[in-house]
Amino acid sequence: MRHVVRQGVRQVIDIGTGIPTSPNTHEVARQLAPDVRVAYVDNDPIVATHAEARLTNTPGVGFLLADVRQPRHILDHPTVRKLIDFDQPVAVLLLAVLHFVKHEEDPAGVVAALRDALPAGSFLVLSHGTGDFHRAGGDASEVYRAATASLHLRDRPAVEALFAGFDLLEPGVVQASRWRPEPPTGEAEDSRVAFYGGMGVNVGVKR
Ligand SMILES: C[S@@+](CC[C@H](N)C(=O)[O-])C[C@H]1O[C@@H](n2cnc3c(N)ncnc32)[C@H](O)[C@@H]1O
Repeated sequence: MRHVVRQGVRQVIDIGTGIPTSPNTHEVARQLAPDVRVAYVDNDPIVATHAEARLTNTPGVGFLLADVRQPRHILDHPTVRKLIDFDQPVAVLLLAVLHFVKHEEDPAGVVAALRDALPAGSFLVLSHGTGDFHRAGGDASEVYRAATASLHLRDRPAVEALFAGFDLLEPGVVQASRWRPEPPTGEAEDSRVAFYGGMGVNVGVKR
């Protein structure tokens, strides 16, 4: 998040927001640039209730109850259109959300639809559950199997494929704790992290 703000991005769509915590995305971003605008999106009505209480009375911040599997609905929604200028670079955050999207629901197509709406210089910031590092991920899949949203862990090539059309920034798709940690993390942190993380910039000629 800090990285994209340092690159000059001032607008963010944070999809799969989760229940507001402290600091929230806009609070982290505004430590560096007070004019950052954030559209939060989540499909959980409980998240919506918390978000409406805690986020939406802040100028430049909005919340939309919507599903990442319907990217066009998100992109066209008045809340997003009011906050986000699609002629200026945007950061799309998909943090710990696409592993709730089944292969047959086309997570790559979801990202592509978002990407195609963004001007050059926009960023994709993504984290995704994986079983590549240790058993924790696999165990979590079992837990989620009985829940409303099932968990679909992906390996590194599958996560990298989600960045189609983006140039991956160094160090690429890596264990999330290893993506330019601030402050640096050690092996103890790695042993708890069952996610890949990566960031890409859209350098395409689109728009
Ligand atoms: C594990 S939390 C991640 C929260 C935050 N992004 C983070 O990284 O800490 C996943 C969030 O994604 C939301 N979510 C799951 N499936 C979704 C979908 N299909 N569309 C939108 N949000 C979804 C859940 O409601 C939950 O709030």
